[in-house]
Amino acid sequence: MKRTSAGSLTREDVGKQVLLQAWVGRRRDHGGVLFLDLRDRGGVAQVVARPEESPEAFAALEPVRSEWVVEVEGRVEARTPEMVNPKMATGEVEVVAERAAVLSRSEPLPFGIETRGEVSEDLRLKHRFLDLRRPELQRNLMLRHRITQETRRYFDEQGFLEVETPILTKSTPEGARDYLVPSRVHPGEFYALPQSPQLFKQLLMVSGLERYVQIARCFRDEDLRADRQPEFTQIDLEVSFPTEELIYELIEGLFARIFPVVGVEPRTPFRRMTYAEAIARFGVDRPDLRYGAEIQDVTGLAGATAFRAFQEAARGGGAVRALVVPGGAAITRSQTDLWAEGARKHGLPGLLTFRRQAEGWQFQVKNVLTDAEMENLAAALGMAEGDLAVLAAGAGERISVALGALRGELARQRSWIPDGRWEFLWVTDFPLLEFHAEDGRWYAMHHPFTSPDPRDLDRLESDPGAVRARAYDVVLNGVELGGGSIRIHDPEVQRRVFGVLGIGEEEARTRFGFLLDALRFGAPPHGGLALGLDRIVMLMAGASSLRDVIAFPKTASATDLMTEAPSPVDPRQLAELSIAVRRG
Ligand code: AMO
Repeated sequence: MKRTSAGSLTREDVGKQVLLQAWVGRRRDHGGVLFLDLRDRGGVAQVVARPEESPEAFAALEPVRSEWVVEVEGRVEARTPEMVNPKMATGEVEVVAERAAVLSRSEPLPFGIETRGEVSEDLRLKHRFLDLRRPELQRNLMLRHRITQETRRYFDEQGFLEVETPILTKSTPEGARDYLVPSRVHPGEFYALPQSPQLFKQLLMVSGLERYVQIARCFRDEDLRADRQPEFTQIDLEVSFPTEELIYELIEGLFARIFPVVGVEPRTPFRRMTYAEAIARFGVDRPDLRYGAEIQDVTGLAGATAFRAFQEAARGGGAVRALVVPGGAAITRSQTDLWAEGARKHGLPGLLTFRRQAEGWQFQVKNVLTDAEMENLAAALGMAEGDLAVLAAGAGERISVALGALRGELARQRSWIPDGRWEFLWVTDFPLLEFHAEDGRWYAMHHPFTSPDPRDLDRLESDPGAVRARAYDVVLNGVELGGGSIRIHDPEVQRRVFGVLGIGEEEARTRFGFLLDALRFGAPPHGGLALGLDRIVMLMAGASSLRDVIAFPKTASATDLMTEAPSPVDPRQLAELSIAVRRG
């Protein structure tokens, strides 16, 4: 007899003979009648074993406990109306056991499959093979499977070729540290695991493959957060002869294909915003557009008052910006002092509060603004009675970043984020480079192969900070889902960008000689993007951590609690690799 999935049974199956092979969930003994919930990937079905129906089946099932694996052959019957369970997909039917056998026993589990919050995540990760029996995690993995299947189909239809690129390779810089793999046959030499397939996909364009896609594993040794894992998966693509518009269209088409799997129909084309605008209005390069509370600029109005701090900021090329907290007038001083402390971490001297209470306007610093000025300021900010505004004067970008962080915190605390909103956004015109004061040099904001905007090329060396990149990110609900760029295909431009990054001719040759060579032999214009598959599935599943959508994830300290990787290795193995470990 063929196996039937427990979760597939419906009223239609009444009268059929079925074979279930599954795990035992709940077991109840109602005075000589056994009720077992049998669980498999498809769901749960109730089995009834009555001694009068089949003494053998009853005897076989009597000793079973939670998480044993059993097989039950029997008849599907409709439940009596009072036994119907509307919460179960299979709640209208049950299987009356006629024959049964135990296929595998289970020791008592370290935690119940149905218990959730009470179990520590470390314990769950240590026994991940059991944790993955939880229907919620199984649903997430099934969703992930659907997304990768749809993705492959979509890109196939769009004329993309799936090509695998090496895992043992040379460093591909994406701003993180590399994971290194020692070579046994070349003592003292190392492979690097790819931070992304970036260079290979560019080479594939030089090779004339025109459209490449890969569901690619990437490895980055960096500080981990809920939305970062040391190894993660990209939907990585590259096209020859691209325009930004073509890339946007391809990604919007993909999202229009995969998001309906969870009932979300993205509105296309997505909104667009330049990096400069995103920073000014939201203080981040991945704004969450599900709620308002934008940062507002009131430099003109504030600078015209008699308040010195405002005047100085306005005159000195700075700004006065504000964030309004609707209904926030009653927020205490001690709370706003905490916010000010947060702002100081972003390099601001502090924050100024401005409230409208029943008794009138209240600006934190007394007697510097006239009633009319406060009235005008409140009108410009769209404030009503009961609202609070926090203001800061100084460098515009710094204020926005500080207020943007506060905006995100307030959104969570004050429940500003509505359910069921999906706000997709393209952020465009990123700066090509960013200056790191620690070591006094320029770094690529995306990666060193990103094309400068041709309009800014003439100031690459003279004013690197002002050069825009042909780079773009796709953002959903404040999460960066992906990023990409049009690449440099002119070896001379690539040499100049390396130059600004402080990568000399010799270093460039050692690190990226193969790319520089390739660019000399008929490299087509090319560009692409990579999406974080784990992040996409996380948002679609409504999960709060990437760990919930990766079968065997790592902890925040990059360990695998189940296999206990990383772990020490046999000294002989190290000797073979010509490696000596120095401790402390
Ligand atoms: P980037 O570094 O922006 O671009 O990465 C693209 C996307 O990959 C995801 N991502 C991560 N997901 C989980 N854990 C991580 N540690 C992690 N790091 C990145 C994010 C991110 O948006 N080669 C370029 C792409 C290109 O230019 O085509 C690249 O890797 O969702």
